[in-house]
Amino acid sequence: MSILFELADIVKDCELKAKKLLIRESILYSEEIVQRSENTEKLDNILYYGDNINAILDLLNNGYKGKIDLIYIDPPFYTNASYSKQMEIDYLGEKKVIQYKAYSDIYKNGFKEYLEMITIRLFLMRELLSDRGSIYVHIDFRTVHYIKIIMDYIFGSEFFLNEIIWSYKSGGSSKKHFSRKHDNILVYTKTKDYIFNPQKEKSYNRGYKPYRFKGVTEYEDKLGWYTLVNLKDVWQIDMVGRTSRERIGYETQKPEALLERIILTSSDDESIVADFFSGSGTTIAVAEKSNRSWIGSDSGKSSIATIMKRLATIDSKAYNIINFNKDLDIGYIKYKSISYDKTDRNTFRIDISLERYNLDLENLNINKKDIDIISEILENDSLSLVDYICIKIGKDAPIIVYEDYRFGKSLRIKESFSFIIDRLNDDIELNIIDVFGNLSTNDIKLLSQ
Ligand SMILES: C[S@@+](CC[C@H](N)C(=O)[O-])C[C@H]1O[C@@H](n2cnc3c(N)ncnc32)[C@H](O)[C@@H]1O
Repeated sequence: MSILFELADIVKDCELKAKKLLIRESILYSEEIVQRSENTEKLDNILYYGDNINAILDLLNNGYKGKIDLIYIDPPFYTNASYSKQMEIDYLGEKKVIQYKAYSDIYKNGFKEYLEMITIRLFLMRELLSDRGSIYVHIDFRTVHYIKIIMDYIFGSEFFLNEIIWSYKSGGSSKKHFSRKHDNILVYTKTKDYIFNPQKEKSYNRGYKPYRFKGVTEYEDKLGWYTLVNLKDVWQIDMVGRTSRERIGYETQKPEALLERIILTSSDDESIVADFFSGSGTTIAVAEKSNRSWIGSDSGKSSIATIMKRLATIDSKAYNIINFNKDLDIGYIKYKSISYDKTDRNTFRIDISLERYNLDLENLNINKKDIDIISEILENDSLSLVDYICIKIGKDAPIIVYEDYRFGKSLRIKESFSFIIDRLNDDIELNIIDVFGNLSTNDIKLLSQ
């Protein structure tokens, strides 16, 4: 049976399920607040690790109903494929590339299951949108026609604003069909009174020559003369390519320029911007750089590890981490030495030297063929597998006092480091994220305690 005849039932079922979820009692969650400084400003920014349905319900239960001005989502596209994350490591001076699964876009029960997954979440997301809010749903040719109909029902066809075509050059080409070089982004608003700050783009004059019309400002660049016009709905923006400086190694990473247009157009300085399928955290990073509050979520551990590191590299403000997944800690650090000294300012300098990183291979989700090489690396150069390290002080609202991460060409963290603390009796925690995205927490005990 064609999905056409099932579509109405799918939408009706999901509407009912969403209603039931909306009236059920608050769900339990665990919360950790991380601060990058002593400044105890309100922490608006939240990163959820877990299924986004829990993230959305948690927000609705905590006063975010009607509070979010912009939601952008880039869900799996129903490609029937798995996506990976790639990491380079420096193993005894030799570069090696490690690849492991980031997320799967495969559904046991096919397209119906995919549509149900999206539809129920769209119903719930609508509840979060403010009266001036917009939602951008990024998909492609495989599902856009179905999602458009579903969104017309959920958001109302009269609130359909645009279908943005994001076109790019990269990707493969075909001799059997026209090469597929665009994605579709459906935009709906909650009401007719929505935030819309028109952005400008260059429009080159015919022949790249100046027109010199009265009252029209013209500009010139390397290509020739142009005017600035309001953005059109076809956006030509390069994908994050192999050589791009933005590239993080997370497949399906979207370019910051794309999110910049969306965030600047459909949010203001005071807005909260949310992305419930955050992936490598492009929306979060652009929202942070544009001084917006943000909320992100992802069910993949490598995504959360990628986002935490991405935020560290842009020296982000403090944010909350809410963890629904509660994975086992499968990594442990062994110290060479931990010592402290009183400074002349009555504070304490802690010196730490790391010896090795151990990883429980039984619980590491990688291809069997890679186990041997990972065991070898663990034996000979285990610290090359550490991607990010941070020291947090205090239990309730921990402050980050030291942070280090592998970045660009520098493929190793510092194995010996120091930091300053005020009191010896504070809780000190060392967090490590390894190149596979495993987060582990190690308490640091000072001898006097
Ligand atoms: C296409 S990627 C997003 C890429 C992102 N826009 C970027 O620029 O990196 C889709 C993401 O959705 C996540 N995901 C899929 N189903 C999810 C769910 N039910 N809850 C939370 N995250 C989910 C996947 O782990 C994946 O990281």
